Amino acid sequence: MKITLSVIKADVGGYVGHSETHPDLMAKARDNLSKAQKERLLIDYHVTKCGDDLQLIMTHQQGEDSDKIHKLAWDTFVDCTEIAKQLKLHGAGQDLLSDAFSGNVRGMGPGVAEMEFEERGAETIIIFMADKTSSGAWNMPLYKMFADPFNTIGLVIAENMHQGFAFEVHDIKDSKKITFNAPDEIYDMLVFIGAPSRYMVKSVYHRGSGAIAATSSTQRLALIAGRYVGKDDPVCIVRSQGEFPAVGEILEPFAAPILVEGWMRGSHMGPLMPVSIPDSTPSRFDGPPRVVAVGFQLSSGKLVGPRDMFADKAFNLARHQANEMADMMRRHGPFEPHRLPLEEMEYTTMPQVMKKLEGRFIPLE
Ligand code: F6R
Ligand code: MG
Ligand code: MG
Repeated sequence: MKITLSVIKADVGGYVGHSETHPDLMAKARDNLSKAQKERLLIDYHVTKCGDDLQLIMTHQQGEDSDKIHKLAWDTFVDCTEIAKQLKLHGAGQDLLSDAFSGNVRGMGPGVAEMEFEERGAETIIIFMADKTSSGAWNMPLYKMFADPFNTIGLVIAENMHQGFAFEVHDIKDSKKITFNAPDEIYDMLVFIGAPSRYMVKSVYHRGSGAIAATSSTQRLALIAGRYVGKDDPVCIVRSQGEFPAVGEILEPFAAPILVEGWMRGSHMGPLMPVSIPDSTPSRFDGPPRVVAVGFQLSSGKLVGPRDMFADKAFNLARHQANEMADMMRRHGPFEPHRLPLEEMEYTTMPQVMKKLEGRFIPLE
C-alpha cells in the first residue's frame, strides 16, 4: 500500500511572545483535519506543536505536492491565523507570506517535508521538529544517523545497511542540488554539508533498494521573503528499523548537543536541546533552540502513536549539557561566535548605522 506522509508546519502566532502555540489554534487545526479525514481526503492526522510552530502531520494517498493536501494545510493556517488575531497572539500569520494560495505551500512560508513510500510490514517513523533554528540543523544529525559508524553500528554489522546511503544536498543560495554516496564520498560531501547555512541535506536514500529513508524541509524564510520573517524552524521525517537505522540510532545524535543557528532574533548560535513536546517552550533568551521527536508505527496509513521520544530520561544529560552550553554562549553577548556573522543575521541595523557614520570612516594611513 502506497502512503504519503506529509508534515506541514507554520508559525501563525505565538503565546507568550514566540514561546508556545496556543491550545485554541491546535484545537482549530484538529477540527479542520478531522473534517478532511471524514471526507476521506486524509487517512489519519496528528496535530502537535514545537514551541510557536503549529505542526500538521497527515497521512493520505494523494502523493507528494498534492494541491488538495497543501490547500487543506494552507486553509487551516489561515483559519488559525484568524483565531490568533482574535486573541491578539504575537506575530499572527507571520509565516503566511502570501494572501492567496496558488496550488502549493512551498515557497509561501510554511515548512514542508513529505515522502511517499510503500508501507512495510512494520513501518516505524520518527518525525523531528525544531524551533528557533534553521534547516541546516539536520545536517550533522542526518550525517551521523546514515553515514557515521560511531553513531550507527548497523552500518557496520547489519547486512541490509552495509552498502550505505545516498544524500541529496541542496545549495539553497544557488538553487542547485547534488547527490553524494556514503561512505565513498563522505569527504567531498562534508566540504558542503559542514556549511549548513547554505548547503542542506534534503533527503537520504537507501543505496541498495533506492527507498526513501529521510526527508527534511529546506525552506529558508529569510531567502523567500527577502527580509526577516523568522528562522524556518525545520521538520524532518526519518524511516526506521529493518534496512534503515534503528530508533536508538536515529535518536542518538541528539544525545550530544551541537551548536546551531537561530535563537534570539534568529541571529545567534546556540545549543540544540532535545526536549519532550510539553518542554518545547523556548523562553530563555527566546531559546535555546529546541528539537522534539514523535514516533509512530503506521498501520495502513493510520498513525499508531505518538510516542514522545525525547521525554526519555536518557536525554536528561543532553539537556543539562545544552543548558551549560547556553550559558557559555550567552557570556559572549553581542559578540561572535554567539552572534552570527553579519551576512547570516536575520536582523541587522548595520545599513542604518553605516549611513549615520558615513564620513566618519576615514582611510587608514
Ligand atoms: C527567533 C524568534 C524571536 C524573535 C524575537 C523578536 O526566531 O522568533 O527570538 O525574533 O522575540 O520578535 P519580534 O520581532 O516579533 O518582536
Ligand atoms: Mg514566532
Ligand atoms: Mg518557531
